[in-house]
Amino acid sequence: MYPAAEKRFINTNRITIIVLFLVIAAGGIVRSTGSGMGCPDWPKCFNQYIPPTDVSQLPLGYEEQYVEGRAQKNERFARIVDAFGYKEKADQIRNDESILKHEEFNVAKTWTEYINRLTGAVAGFCLLFAAFFAFTYVKSKPAIFVWSVVNVFVVVLQAWLGSIVVSTNLMPWIITVHMLLALVIVCISIYTFYLATTFRNRTILINQRSAILKGLAILSLIVMLIQVVYGTAVREAIDHLNDAGVLRVNWIDSLGSDYLLHRILAYTSLGLSIILFVLVNNKFSSLTLQSRYAWMLLILVGIQMLSGIVLARFNVPAFAQTIHLVFASLLFGTQYYLMLLMTKLKR
Ligand code: HEM
Repeated sequence: MYPAAEKRFINTNRITIIVLFLVIAAGGIVRSTGSGMGCPDWPKCFNQYIPPTDVSQLPLGYEEQYVEGRAQKNERFARIVDAFGYKEKADQIRNDESILKHEEFNVAKTWTEYINRLTGAVAGFCLLFAAFFAFTYVKSKPAIFVWSVVNVFVVVLQAWLGSIVVSTNLMPWIITVHMLLALVIVCISIYTFYLATTFRNRTILINQRSAILKGLAILSLIVMLIQVVYGTAVREAIDHLNDAGVLRVNWIDSLGSDYLLHRILAYTSLGLSIILFVLVNNKFSSLTLQSRYAWMLLILVGIQMLSGIVLARFNVPAFAQTIHLVFASLLFGTQYYLMLLMTKLKR
């Protein structure tokens, strides 16, 4: 059905989406194992392309060397933040002494962070190839080409932000922006995939307009986005508690109103997903993409709720932190795709 050049784009785009979720999973593992500072510099790790396996391989006085580099980078970043009008945040970057704290070498953490960076680099190349192959649509469907190129720029921005995450010693609000930007990249990739597949195969789309279904799909996507933002606020609060030396067993009880809202929104999301699932399955046959993705949505939201309950009941175990982050991203991507699939076929 698709010409060879288009098939090449669609396959590359599909692989890119899978790799992007792997990058998010790698980022989640880095976070839950506390490996974010495993490489004190960026993009190389201890100034090497393949990082050391033993402390004896590190140059003498390496601690000061990287701290100095980070301080300069942070000053440059603070000026940018200032220029955007966030004076308070800029001052925080300038004055927080913990930012320049040196972390002891730990081979497991170094390699965990290094593998995370390698996965990120693979994703970058995938996006570059996708943009290259998208050239085939430049006349027939320019939006695919434009968005594929935009995504390459966004991923470069994301890589730079990753370097700021390191140089500011994992400042919580920067991790949040980094995570939200990852979702933007995923959504652009899903969008180009949707445009490319529906360009030739119109049967994917629906025949009759259904304002209720489309409206509900948009509403649950918005609620999910707010829910993700509250989730990151809860994660920021947990990071601050950890930095302040609060014991893990006391984390959940020390969380404030953001956590309460996060739970209320979780049940709202669950409710909306169930309604969407029932309506989609009433309207579409089980063989359609719409029905398959509605099933997927229901399963993912179930796993997400369970992992949240495990976080709450068992003192925020590290494995559940990674699962919760990865499934939140999968859930968001699925919901976004399902919303796109509610588009009516134009004759
Ligand atoms: C639709 C359901 C849910 C979604 C989409 C969701 C999403 C998220 C997201 C995106 C984060 C931030 C992860 C990170 O940045 O590392 C988060 C954190 C968190 N969520 Fe949820 N969540 C949901 C349900 C729940 C429920 C039901 C609970 C508890 C009863 C819960 C408890 C937590 C906790 C404790 C954190 C902080 C975890 C950490 O520090 O890594 N979540 N959530």
